[in-house]
Amino acid sequence: MSDVSFTHRVAIVTGAGGGLGRAHALELARRGAKVVINDLGGDISGTNGGTAMADQVVAEIRAAGGEAVSNYDSVATPEGGRAIVQTAIDAFGKVDILINNAGNIKNAPFTDLTPDAVESLLAVHVKGAFNVTQPAFANMRENGYGRIVFTSSAAGLFGSIAQANYAAAKGGVFGLANVVALEGKAHNILVNTILPAANSRMAADMSPEQFIGMPTTPAHGEPEMITAMVAYLASETNTQTRELYSIARGRYGRVFMGVAPGWTVAADEPIASPDDVAAHIDEIRDLDGYAVPESMIAEFSLIP
Ligand SMILES: NC(=O)c1ccc[n+]([C@@H]2O[C@H](COP(=O)([O-])OP(=O)(O)OC[C@H]3O[C@@H](n4cnc5c(N)ncnc54)[C@H](O)[C@@H]3O)[C@@H](O)[C@H]2O)c1
Repeated sequence: MSDVSFTHRVAIVTGAGGGLGRAHALELARRGAKVVINDLGGDISGTNGGTAMADQVVAEIRAAGGEAVSNYDSVATPEGGRAIVQTAIDAFGKVDILINNAGNIKNAPFTDLTPDAVESLLAVHVKGAFNVTQPAFANMRENGYGRIVFTSSAAGLFGSIAQANYAAAKGGVFGLANVVALEGKAHNILVNTILPAANSRMAADMSPEQFIGMPTTPAHGEPEMITAMVAYLASETNTQTRELYSIARGRYGRVFMGVAPGWTVAADEPIASPDDVAAHIDEIRDLDGYAVPESMIAEFSLIP
């Protein structure tokens, strides 16, 4: 058994003024990390802003004897991302850990989604994660150490009614995380992604029809359940990278993307026609003997 510890580590948690981010920040600080508490302080759609949410969490950490500073920048702009990372460097000298957690939500049936509801979610989740990770990655690379946790969603990977904009944004986060993981590995920057489900103001915004078919009323669980996995992934104890974990209703499980052996047309055979695909569709769909490639190149190399 190892004790997950963050002594001498500096962490940034985005969107740490409430919900999951607050729980992550409190736990990291409790275990010795110096933490930047970033939060825009707005509503669930990501509009408006204020200092109270971040300051409240900083006060909680300091009252418990920990070290933390506030940052109120939006992750949604490159300047905001740089300012968040600079806050860590100015206050604590470096960045060891980045928890990309900030998020907003604007649910609507697919045909009712407005361009703003799409753009504002892509801006916070995907571009936001990019904007903070790029300068943080640069500092981690200089130090030869880093741990980054991205927050995607089961909605993004598996789909969820009335959340096309959110799913598109969270799918983008997954794609981003994969590449940062591949590029970070040589620099001892380990990058993993979570699909959380826990009680928060954002979870409370889900409507009953989004849970049709579930065996019981969705009992999400406490944010601290998610924090246990996030803190582990953010620690030196974790040696894995480019992995994906679902944490929901008390279950912690690895999620993976696999490819079936499929049906292959050899280079010296005629190019397949739609009728050939129809004839071989069962073979193409058969998952027996699937593989879990670790990169695009690894996927191509599976092809006979
Ligand atoms: N709660 C769940 O069940 C669940 C499920 C899947 C994914 N998530 C993801 O977990 C993360 C945390 O969500 P939560 O459930 O704790 O909700 P939440 O609304 O309590 O937390 C999100 C935080 O992000 C902050 N934020 C929003 N826009 C910002 C911006 N532009 N810059 C900086 N901060 C900003 C908000 O002020 C808020 O404090 C989000 O990325 C969310 O999409 C949550």
